[in-house]
Amino acid sequence: MSKVHHVAVIVGSLRKASINRKLALALAELAPPSLKLEIVEIGDLPLYNEDIDVSPPPAAYTAFREKLKDADAVLFVTPEYNRSVPAPLKNAIDVGSRPYGQSAYSGKPAAVVSASPGAIGGFGANHHLRQSLVFLDMPVLQQPESYLGGAGNFFDESGKPNDSIKGFLQKFIDTFARWVETNAKP
Ligand code: FNR
Repeated sequence: MSKVHHVAVIVGSLRKASINRKLALALAELAPPSLKLEIVEIGDLPLYNEDIDVSPPPAAYTAFREKLKDADAVLFVTPEYNRSVPAPLKNAIDVGSRPYGQSAYSGKPAAVVSASPGAIGGFGANHHLRQSLVFLDMPVLQQPESYLGGAGNFFDESGKPNDSIKGFLQKFIDTFARWVETNAKP
């Protein structure tokens, strides 16, 4: 088997019953053996402030940056808040991108999944996030686009994805696995 690639999964919602967290966990289960997904928590990162990002930076910043650096790729799974990315996710982007010139995101292959109970599936958040990923120099998977609308109906009571979404998730994660294999740094 080819190398196993480690994927840091960043979930844009902090709430326990988050649909996006369930999606991230479902993707981790469906991932092929060549891809290992692990959620990297962002809820305890202090709001980014250059005044505190000095030597030594907050321990939570350092731990987060190290987890990102250890990963071969990054998968973002996020809701949309007011047609953009939730603040904790933007904060995680900012924290991981510093110190200047030492971004933990740089060059890592990535993908974005957005999900909402609404019809548009988080399209606005998905594309606002992509704008940052261009600047962070991350090769981002283009297809299949993953704006998952009606996401309140994706899971059964045990949190397992039902047939309305499972096929798509499998296709997505298999495609992402190939994307990571092609674009990950050796
Ligand atoms: C929302 N929600 C939302 N939904 C949407 O499709 N577009 C939007 O712009 C917004 N804006 C928004 C702002 C704020 C502050 C909240 C709290 C919620 C609804 C959102 O999609 C819904 O709560 C999801 O269930 C959130 O995702 P998780 O937490 O289930 O992963």
